Amino acid sequence: MSNILVLTGSARPNSASSKVAEQVSAAIARHDGAQGTIVEVANLQLPFFNAPTAPSADDYEITDPNVQAWSDMVQAADAVVWVLPEYNHSMSGIQKNAIDWLYSEWKDKPLMMVGYGWYEGAHTLAAAKHVCDVVKPEIRAEVGLGFMKQLNVDGSAKEQAEVDQALDAAVAKLLA
Ligand SMILES: Cc1cc2nc3c(=O)[nH]c(=O)nc-3n(C[C@H](O)[C@H](O)[C@H](O)COP(=O)(O)O)c2cc1C
Repeated sequence: MSNILVLTGSARPNSASSKVAEQVSAAIARHDGAQGTIVEVANLQLPFFNAPTAPSADDYEITDPNVQAWSDMVQAADAVVWVLPEYNHSMSGIQKNAIDWLYSEWKDKPLMMVGYGWYEGAHTLAAAKHVCDVVKPEIRAEVGLGFMKQLNVDGSAKEQAEVDQALDAAVAKLLA
Protein backbone atom coordinates (compact mmCIF):
# COMPACT_ATOMS: atom_id res chain seq x y z
CA MET A 1 0.00 0.00 0.00
CA SER A 2 1.78 3.07 -1.15
CA ASN A 3 -0.91 5.71 -1.26
CA ILE A 4 -2.52 6.41 2.10
CA LEU A 5 -4.70 9.47 2.46
CA VAL A 6 -4.67 11.09 5.91
CA LEU A 7 -7.73 13.32 6.36
CA THR A 8 -7.64 16.04 9.01
CA GLY A 9 -10.81 17.16 10.75
CA SER A 10 -10.53 20.81 11.57
CA ALA A 11 -10.61 24.21 9.90
CA ARG A 12 -8.97 25.97 12.85
CA PRO A 13 -5.65 27.75 12.42
CA ASN A 14 -2.89 25.70 14.11
CA SER A 15 -5.32 22.86 14.67
CA ALA A 16 -4.35 19.89 16.80
CA SER A 17 -5.68 17.78 13.93
CA SER A 18 -2.85 18.91 11.65
CA LYS A 19 -0.24 18.00 14.25
CA VAL A 20 -1.80 14.59 14.88
CA ALA A 21 -1.93 14.02 11.11
CA GLU A 22 1.81 14.74 10.94
CA GLN A 23 2.41 12.08 13.61
CA VAL A 24 0.29 9.63 11.62
CA SER A 25 2.14 10.45 8.42
CA ALA A 26 5.48 9.88 10.19
CA ALA A 27 4.26 6.50 11.46
CA ILE A 28 3.23 5.52 7.94
CA ALA A 29 6.65 6.55 6.62
CA ARG A 30 8.30 4.21 9.15
CA HIS A 31 6.68 1.30 7.30
CA ASP A 32 8.53 0.16 4.17
CA GLY A 33 6.96 1.28 0.93
CA ALA A 34 4.09 3.17 2.52
CA GLN A 35 3.47 6.85 2.07
CA GLY A 36 0.89 9.09 3.69
CA THR A 37 -0.55 12.18 2.05
CA ILE A 38 -2.14 14.66 4.44
CA VAL A 39 -5.33 16.21 3.14
CA GLU A 40 -6.42 19.26 5.11
CA VAL A 41 -10.20 19.01 5.16
CA ALA A 42 -10.64 22.79 4.91
CA ASN A 43 -8.51 22.91 1.75
CA LEU A 44 -10.96 20.60 -0.01
CA GLN A 45 -13.34 23.58 -0.09
CA LEU A 46 -16.43 21.41 -0.16
CA PRO A 47 -19.85 23.02 -0.05
CA PHE A 48 -22.21 22.05 2.73
CA PHE A 49 -24.00 19.03 1.38
CA ASN A 50 -26.54 20.36 -1.13
CA ALA A 51 -26.95 17.65 -3.76
CA PRO A 52 -30.53 16.84 -4.79
CA THR A 53 -30.11 13.14 -4.04
CA ALA A 54 -28.19 11.20 -1.42
CA PRO A 55 -24.82 9.79 -2.44
CA SER A 56 -26.26 6.30 -1.88
CA ALA A 57 -28.98 6.91 -4.52
CA ASP A 58 -28.67 5.29 -7.94
CA ASP A 59 -29.11 8.64 -9.67
CA TYR A 60 -26.54 10.50 -7.53
CA GLU A 61 -24.31 12.66 -9.67
CA ILE A 62 -21.38 14.75 -8.54
CA THR A 63 -21.46 18.12 -10.27
CA ASP A 64 -19.21 20.22 -8.03
CA PRO A 65 -15.57 20.06 -9.21
CA ASN A 66 -14.22 20.15 -5.65
CA VAL A 67 -16.41 17.23 -4.66
CA GLN A 68 -15.27 15.38 -7.79
CA ALA A 69 -11.62 15.99 -6.87
CA TRP A 70 -12.33 14.68 -3.36
CA SER A 71 -14.06 11.61 -4.78
CA ASP A 72 -11.09 10.97 -7.09
CA MET A 73 -8.67 11.25 -4.15
CA VAL A 74 -10.51 8.70 -2.06
CA GLN A 75 -10.94 6.33 -4.99
CA ALA A 76 -7.23 6.51 -5.79
CA ALA A 77 -6.17 5.89 -2.18
CA ASP A 78 -5.14 2.39 -1.14
CA ALA A 79 -6.25 3.23 2.39
CA VAL A 80 -7.52 6.18 4.38
CA VAL A 81 -6.88 7.53 7.88
CA TRP A 82 -9.48 9.75 9.51
CA VAL A 83 -7.89 12.00 12.14
CA LEU A 84 -10.91 12.74 14.31
CA PRO A 85 -11.19 15.77 16.60
CA GLU A 86 -13.95 15.65 19.17
CA TYR A 87 -16.47 18.49 19.08
CA ASN A 88 -19.35 18.25 21.56
CA HIS A 89 -18.89 14.51 21.90
CA SER A 90 -19.03 13.92 18.17
CA MET A 91 -17.09 14.40 14.94
CA SER A 92 -16.42 17.91 13.68
CA GLY A 93 -19.03 19.23 11.27
CA ILE A 94 -16.56 19.92 8.49
CA GLN A 95 -15.22 16.38 8.59
CA LYS A 96 -18.67 14.80 8.72
CA ASN A 97 -19.64 16.91 5.71
CA ALA A 98 -16.60 15.69 3.76
CA ILE A 99 -17.48 12.08 4.56
CA ASP A 100 -21.17 12.64 3.73
CA TRP A 101 -20.38 13.78 0.18
CA LEU A 102 -19.19 10.28 -0.78
CA TYR A 103 -20.70 6.83 -0.42
CA SER A 104 -19.48 4.10 -2.78
CA GLU A 105 -15.94 5.49 -2.47
CA TRP A 106 -15.88 4.44 1.21
CA LYS A 107 -17.18 0.92 0.71
CA ASP A 108 -14.53 -1.65 1.70
CA LYS A 109 -11.84 1.06 1.80
CA PRO A 110 -9.23 0.06 4.40
CA LEU A 111 -9.63 2.62 7.19
CA MET A 112 -7.73 3.61 10.30
CA MET A 113 -9.32 6.04 12.76
CA VAL A 114 -7.35 8.25 15.14
CA GLY A 115 -9.53 10.04 17.66
CA TYR A 116 -8.16 12.57 20.11
CA GLY A 117 -9.37 14.93 22.82
CA TRP A 118 -10.01 15.06 26.55
CA TYR A 119 -11.56 11.57 26.56
CA GLU A 120 -8.95 10.01 24.24
CA GLY A 121 -11.37 10.62 21.40
CA ALA A 122 -13.85 8.07 22.76
CA HIS A 123 -16.96 9.96 21.65
CA THR A 124 -15.72 11.02 18.23
CA LEU A 125 -14.56 7.45 17.57
CA ALA A 126 -18.02 6.20 18.55
CA ALA A 127 -19.65 8.76 16.24
CA ALA A 128 -17.35 7.79 13.37
CA LYS A 129 -18.26 4.14 13.86
CA HIS A 130 -21.96 5.01 13.49
CA VAL A 131 -21.09 6.65 10.15
CA CYS A 132 -19.14 3.55 9.16
CA ASP A 133 -22.22 1.41 9.82
CA VAL A 134 -23.67 3.11 6.74
CA VAL A 135 -20.74 3.82 4.42
CA LYS A 136 -19.06 0.51 5.26
CA PRO A 137 -15.32 0.97 5.00
CA GLU A 138 -13.15 -1.88 6.25
CA ILE A 139 -12.12 -0.62 9.69
CA ARG A 140 -8.70 -2.07 10.28
CA ALA A 141 -7.42 -0.06 13.23
CA GLU A 142 -8.35 2.62 15.71
CA VAL A 143 -6.35 4.72 18.14
CA GLY A 144 -7.45 7.09 20.89
CA LEU A 145 -5.06 9.80 22.07
CA GLY A 146 -5.73 11.93 25.15
CA PHE A 147 -4.81 15.51 25.94
CA MET A 148 -2.49 15.70 28.94
CA LYS A 149 -1.86 11.98 28.48
CA GLN A 150 -0.18 11.16 25.18
CA LEU A 151 -0.76 14.61 23.61
CA ASN A 152 -0.30 18.23 24.53
CA VAL A 153 -3.39 20.35 23.91
CA ASP A 154 -1.88 21.73 20.70
CA GLY A 155 -1.81 18.19 19.30
CA SER A 156 1.95 17.68 19.60
CA ALA A 157 3.19 14.55 21.35
CA LYS A 158 3.55 14.77 25.13
CA GLU A 159 4.70 11.18 25.40
CA GLN A 160 6.39 10.63 22.04
CA ALA A 161 7.19 6.96 22.64
CA GLU A 162 3.57 6.18 23.55
CA VAL A 163 2.25 8.03 20.50
CA ASP A 164 4.72 6.28 18.20
CA GLN A 165 3.95 2.87 19.68
CA ALA A 166 0.18 3.31 19.36
CA LEU A 167 0.36 4.68 15.81
CA ASP A 168 2.93 2.13 14.62
CA ALA A 169 0.77 -0.76 15.85
CA ALA A 170 -2.31 0.71 14.16
CA VAL A 171 -0.51 1.41 10.89
CA ALA A 172 0.78 -2.18 10.88
CA LYS A 173 -2.85 -3.38 11.10
CA LEU A 174 -3.91 -0.95 8.38
CA LEU A 175 -1.21 -2.24 6.03
CA ALA A 176 -1.61 -5.93 6.85
C1 LIG B 1 -16.96 23.42 19.58
C2 LIG B 1 -15.97 22.59 20.36
C3 LIG B 1 -16.44 21.53 21.09
C4 LIG B 1 -15.53 20.71 21.77
N1 LIG B 1 -16.00 19.60 22.42
C5 LIG B 1 -15.13 18.71 22.92
C6 LIG B 1 -15.58 17.46 23.42
O1 LIG B 1 -16.76 17.14 23.43
N2 LIG B 1 -14.66 16.57 23.86
C7 LIG B 1 -13.31 16.87 23.85
O2 LIG B 1 -12.54 16.01 24.26
N3 LIG B 1 -12.86 18.06 23.40
C8 LIG B 1 -13.73 18.97 22.92
N4 LIG B 1 -13.29 20.16 22.42
C9 LIG B 1 -11.86 20.46 22.51
C10 LIG B 1 -11.14 19.94 21.30
O3 LIG B 1 -10.81 18.59 21.50
C11 LIG B 1 -9.87 20.76 21.06
O4 LIG B 1 -10.23 22.12 20.86
C12 LIG B 1 -9.08 20.26 19.89
O5 LIG B 1 -7.94 21.07 19.75
C13 LIG B 1 -9.89 20.27 18.62
O6 LIG B 1 -9.11 19.87 17.52
P1 LIG B 1 -8.62 20.94 16.46
O7 LIG B 1 -7.61 21.83 17.18
O8 LIG B 1 -7.97 20.12 15.40
O9 LIG B 1 -9.79 21.72 15.99
C14 LIG B 1 -14.16 21.00 21.75
C15 LIG B 1 -13.71 22.10 21.00
C16 LIG B 1 -14.59 22.88 20.31
C17 LIG B 1 -14.07 24.01 19.46
